[in-house]
Amino acid sequence: MAKKKIGILTGGGDAPGLNAVIYSIVRSCHEKYDLIGYRFGYRGLYNNDFVPLTVESTSGILHKGGTILYSSNKDNLFDYAEEENGVVVKRDRSDVAVANMKKEGVEYLIVLGGDGTLTSARDFARKGVNVIGVPKTIDNDLSSTDTTFGFDTAVNIVVENLGRLHTTAESHHRVMVVEVMGRSAGWIALHAGIAGSADVILIPEIPYTVENVVKKIKAREAIGKKFTIVVVTEGAAEKGGEAVVGRVVADSPDAIRFGGIAAKLANDLEKHVDNEVRHVTLGHIQRGGDTSPADRLLSIRYGVKAADMLEKGQFGNMVCLRNGAMDSESLEVVLGSSATGSTSMGLSKRVDPSCELVQTAKSIGISFGD
Ligand code: F6P
Repeated sequence: MAKKKIGILTGGGDAPGLNAVIYSIVRSCHEKYDLIGYRFGYRGLYNNDFVPLTVESTSGILHKGGTILYSSNKDNLFDYAEEENGVVVKRDRSDVAVANMKKEGVEYLIVLGGDGTLTSARDFARKGVNVIGVPKTIDNDLSSTDTTFGFDTAVNIVVENLGRLHTTAESHHRVMVVEVMGRSAGWIALHAGIAGSADVILIPEIPYTVENVVKKIKAREAIGKKFTIVVVTEGAAEKGGEAVVGRVVADSPDAIRFGGIAAKLANDLEKHVDNEVRHVTLGHIQRGGDTSPADRLLSIRYGVKAADMLEKGQFGNMVCLRNGAMDSESLEVVLGSSATGSTSMGLSKRVDPSCELVQTAKSIGISFGD
C-alpha cells in the first residue's frame, strides 16, 4: 500500500534550526510516510513546486542555518498578489494550494514559520487541511512558547561579536553602539548584552534618555574606563520618541523593518561626550551560519513533537515548549481569531521591565538608559 504523504514548508525570515526541524521530522516519519518539501514557503504550495525529502536528501543539514527549502515572507495565499493586465490584484488563492495538495496526495502539512506564516496555517486548518505549526523566530517574542529555536544562536553570535567590539573599542577609547535584531522585543539585546558584558542595554520595552546613557559613559570614564559598549535593539526608542524604521516592505505581512537606531543614537551621544562614538549593525549575521548546539537540540525536539502530533491527529495546533517540556497549543489561541486572510501579529511576548533578568542586569551596574 502506498504511504501517506506529508508536505513541509518554511515561511518568513529564516532562523537557525529550521533545517534541524526538517531533519528531525524526516527521521521521525520516513518509515511510515513519504515526505516532500515545498520550495519558497507558500509560493511552492501555490506553484506545486516541491522536492522529495528523504533521510538521504536531508543528511548533513542538522547543523546548517537557513533552510534547504528556501523561504518567502511575501506570499499570503489568502491575499495573494497577482498581475492582471499590468495591474496588481489581490485574491484568495488558497484553493489552488488545497487542489495541489490533493493532486499530489499530500494529506498532511507541517508549516514552519512566524506570525504571518502561522496565520495562514491557521487559515488552512479552517479550510479543513490537516496542518501542524512549528514556530520559529530568532526574536523569541512568541508568547505561546518558552523559547523559539534560532534565539540561542543569535544570542551566541551577538556575544561573540561584542567580544570583538570590546577589544577595538578599548584600544581607541570609543563608545561603540551595537544594533541587534528583535523587532519590538528586547530579548536578544537583554540576553546577549548581559552575557557579553555590555555597559548599556537599550530595549523597546524600556524607553531611554540620551542623558542617562551619557551619565553611564561618564561614570565609566570616572573610574578609568574610557570606552563603553551600548547594545540597542533595532526597535528601541527614546522616551517620548519613535522607533526608527529602516525600510517598508510593502508586500510583506509585517511590512515594517526597523533599522537605524544605532546611527541615530551614536550621533546624539557624540554631542555630549568627548569620545568618538561609532555604531555597528549586526543585521543578518545574527541569523546566518551554523545553528548552535542548544538550538539543534531544541529543533530536534520540536520536530519529533510535530511528528507525534501528526500521528495523534492533533491538527490545527502548534508545537510549543512549556516549562521545559514539549507541548501543543491551538493555532486559533496562539494567533487570535482574526478573520481568515488577515495578518495577525500573534500574541507577542515582550520583556517585562520589572523581570528578574532586567533587575539582575541592573544589580551588576548595567544601565537601561531609564
Ligand atoms: O523576525 C526575525 C527578524 O530577523 C527580525 O529580528 C528582523 O527585524 C527581521 O526579521 C528582518 O527581516 P528581513 O530579513 O525580512 O529583513
